[in-house]
Amino acid sequence: MSKIKIGMIGLGTVASGVFKTLQDFDNIEIVKIAVRDINKPRNIENLDKNLLTTDAMSIVNDKSIDVIVELIGGVEPAKTLITTAILNGKHVVTANKELLAKHGEELFDLAEKNNKVILYEGAIAGGIPLIMPIKTILAANKISKIEAILNGTTNYILTNMDMKHASYDDVLKEAQNLGYAEADPTADVEGFDAAYKLATLATISLNKRIKINDIYREGISKVTADDIKYANELGYKIKLIAHAELTDENTADVRVHPMFVSKSTTLAHIDYVTNAVTITGFPIGQVTLSGPGAGEFPTASSVAGDIIVLSHEIGTTDYILPMMRCNHSSSVKVTNILDTVNKYYLSLTVSNKVGVIGKLGLICADKGISLASVLQKGVSDDNTANIIIITELCKEKDILEVIDLLQKEGCINKLNSMIRVANDV
Ligand code: HSE
Repeated sequence: MSKIKIGMIGLGTVASGVFKTLQDFDNIEIVKIAVRDINKPRNIENLDKNLLTTDAMSIVNDKSIDVIVELIGGVEPAKTLITTAILNGKHVVTANKELLAKHGEELFDLAEKNNKVILYEGAIAGGIPLIMPIKTILAANKISKIEAILNGTTNYILTNMDMKHASYDDVLKEAQNLGYAEADPTADVEGFDAAYKLATLATISLNKRIKINDIYREGISKVTADDIKYANELGYKIKLIAHAELTDENTADVRVHPMFVSKSTTLAHIDYVTNAVTITGFPIGQVTLSGPGAGEFPTASSVAGDIIVLSHEIGTTDYILPMMRCNHSSSVKVTNILDTVNKYYLSLTVSNKVGVIGKLGLICADKGISLASVLQKGVSDDNTANIIIITELCKEKDILEVIDLLQKEGCINKLNSMIRVANDV
């Protein structure tokens, strides 16, 4: 049997899992691995150091290699290495969400021009089979909406804030100590990581080219323990939701931000580092895929799966895996966040004056905004009160105008939080 020859770029956590997983497959041979430091101790038994090189370019230029597996992340040097690999006639497997989000279109175009494929099952939601199902067995569907939890770190933090009634800062610190959050948590907690994943997921699901800059993004760092407490009282959980939807006006509403999700939905019960993706389409209706969104072996399952699929295709036809190729050049107008329609949770501090709730109701009514829930629990010692509101569906620009008016009219001292409420996840 002729073996498929693999060149790996990177030997970090996921790559180590891929290396170990592939040891069981006789038709696959890892011939070279690019690393930064050859002598770094690694958690791989009997690793032959002759496989290692610090010269990644020599791997993508190696004529004997069929497939490049890029697992270093980030834009450069990954982009140059993948580009060179494709120009040198190699197929590519990558888990690089940032690179695909920022440069996917040109890389997929280049691959197509050179009759090569780029597979990336590990780039989005780690071990959850997502790309291949969407591109193959769900191909009969017109997917209209994706609602997803795509970041384990933020889901871990939100779950712990909920379970322990703790503040964001305390839980983040604990998560950092336990290694669940990075020392610089920005990419996760401010929603960049989820937005990178959503850019590609939305592109293949909606069949439109969604650019990373099209995605509205807010992180979880402003979510408070009180918000989570009120969410629970009103029948919701707070999750960092990646949302992509084709609207009736044929625009793409794509965003990542915290959301109240009803406890009656599956996503509300996806806890800790687990990821989940709910796909709505016709004829499937709705399907939710959930599982481990990161980690050595879960992500290795996806990356190694891509490699094994390629190994069974290479040499069998001149045009392999047509359904896995990307040609989503169809552009789409993006919905401005101000034009999106949502329900809203508002937490307001108001002065304890006669008629405040009445005025609030009137100003909302003037804008055609109906209130679904209003909650006030007594008055504080400083003669202020906390009022919690959940609205019915309304335009974001209208609710912002209402808040502005309420502030101008002296009805509210402080807007503590405004969090969008998922309609029907
Ligand atoms: N940092 C990501 C997360 C995993 O917390 O889900 C890698 O994409």
